Amino acid sequence: MSVSQQVFLRDAMRRLNLTRDVFAARIGVKRRALDTWLLPEGSQESRTMPDVVARFVTEIVENEALLKKYSQSAQSGPLRDRIAYEGKHQLLSVDQFSRESVEELFRIADQMQPIARRQKVSRVLEGAVLGNLFFEASTRTRVSFGAAFCRLGGSVCDTTGFTFSSMAKGESIYDTSRVMSGYVDAMVIRHPEQGSVAEFARATNIPVVNGGDGAGEHPSQALLDLYTILTEFSRLGKLLDGAHIALVGDLKYGRTVHSLIKLLALYRGLKFTLIAPKGLEMPEEILHQAGRHGHVIEQTSSLEEGLKGADVIYATRVQKERFAGEEIEGYSADFQVNKALVDKCCGPDVIVMHPLPRDSREGSHDLSVDLNDDSRLAIFRQADNGIPVRMAIFAVLLGVERLVQHSLRDVTWSPPSYIGPDDAIFPGME
Ligand code: ASP
Ligand code: CP
Repeated sequence: MSVSQQVFLRDAMRRLNLTRDVFAARIGVKRRALDTWLLPEGSQESRTMPDVVARFVTEIVENEALLKKYSQSAQSGPLRDRIAYEGKHQLLSVDQFSRESVEELFRIADQMQPIARRQKVSRVLEGAVLGNLFFEASTRTRVSFGAAFCRLGGSVCDTTGFTFSSMAKGESIYDTSRVMSGYVDAMVIRHPEQGSVAEFARATNIPVVNGGDGAGEHPSQALLDLYTILTEFSRLGKLLDGAHIALVGDLKYGRTVHSLIKLLALYRGLKFTLIAPKGLEMPEEILHQAGRHGHVIEQTSSLEEGLKGADVIYATRVQKERFAGEEIEGYSADFQVNKALVDKCCGPDVIVMHPLPRDSREGSHDLSVDLNDDSRLAIFRQADNGIPVRMAIFAVLLGVERLVQHSLRDVTWSPPSYIGPDDAIFPGME
């Protein structure tokens, strides 16, 4: 097996679209045994899967792939060509993905996990330089894209805010983009205007990634959100097809939910409840696009009503910086997702997500901190997933994904087992 057994098994379950329970039954093993094979190598509970099981799983997956090949038009060629934007290796919108291509990207993200977990290092991007151009506030996107590039062996040059870029002197997007292309091998751009990153992308042939364009899209966030949902569901023994997703908060200006609902719509039979204060509802054109796939979409301004029976609660911050005359400051108190509400409306299997940052100032009523030591709160696992997913994006756009597996070496330092003081291993977590 050229990949780790964890990557191999997760990929097999995704391709076969089976929960852990059903997959264990399909290959004739106990669920507990499967759980131990799925743990990261090196963890105390982890066990090696017998060769005979690996051969059987390979056979089932190959049969499934053959069936797919004959039943639909075969996907071929490198992933970066299949997700290309106007013929270029750029990532501007989740519209570039199909369910197959997004799952192929996640297979690569799984292979990046040992690097993200600081067990392995790779130098596949040695010599390459990333230009991080952030014209809006950011912690996660800027640093995790930078760290992802560095962890693949590349280096990063940053510019933050308009003040410290020559755009403050009136330089155009075209000139800025063309000049930067002479200096770096890829760019990640965040800008307050919707459509601006596409304008940067038109002025260059190097890979450009949209790190958030105004109230438009945030595709890498949606990819890591979907990756998180699939990973958490795998642990919980659930499938995404048929799930109930509640999107909460500022759905009008929140670009993460704009990208996420379109990406989730690639799956089957979902129920979305969109819970927004009056005036901050999801834009019509996005509703229309997601609705084309035949999902159930319900809109409400009652949190309690909308959260009932949800499998995923995805809370968001009020995007006050984008308001055009709206009066709302924070959310009112009855709009806050907190432990009492989650206990009342949802089961023990719900996952609570948020793209972060959450606004912790008084009166903002953003996602409550009283869920912090509740295992259903997935926000930090979600943020951590930014690294493997963004590494996968770079590997694909720069065409090195096939080199990663053989480039891995052990790290020379020892990171702490739990990176946060409040982190714990939850049962079956991988
Ligand atoms: N960080 C996310 C974004 O930039 C969400 C937020 O800021 O509320 O879109
Ligand atoms: N989630 C997210 O985009 O965070 P930042 O705004 O801190 O980059």
